[in-house]
Amino acid sequence: MTDRKLYAEALKARENSYCPYSNFATGAALLAKSGKVYRGCNVENAAYGPTNCAERTAFFKAVSEGEREFEAIAVCGAVQGQVPDKACPPCGVCRQVMSEFCDGNFRIILYDPEKGTKAYTLDEILPQRFDLGEYK
Ligand code: THU
Repeated sequence: MTDRKLYAEALKARENSYCPYSNFATGAALLAKSGKVYRGCNVENAAYGPTNCAERTAFFKAVSEGEREFEAIAVCGAVQGQVPDKACPPCGVCRQVMSEFCDGNFRIILYDPEKGTKAYTLDEILPQRFDLGEYK
């Protein structure tokens, strides 16, 4: 699975975004080590707080299907109705969820205007992360 293909899956996932409050539509495609791809979109709520980001939707779908090991996630986002033309980096809460299941080499694939996609590692976007395992 190439980064471009995974990013294309994220764009497909974004088509199902439910974002009547922010009008900001996001999509994610999570590649498990099993080879399966799990799509996610943002799902908003009138009470705002229960809103789920695209990345967490993808993670929770995958984990609830028994997946525990992951290679990469592609993420896209833009105002609803517009084609994403810049990177949409994951929010802090989603980075923490990635941290629960992924090591520092886990790859986050974002849009790049010049190259199409650009990959970052979890270590790069979440340095000094909280890891309970360190204290045991
Ligand atoms: N959102 C995501 O889906 N992923 C992120 O990492 C940041 C934000 C969603 C949440 C909300 O539905 C909308 O984008 C605007 O914040």
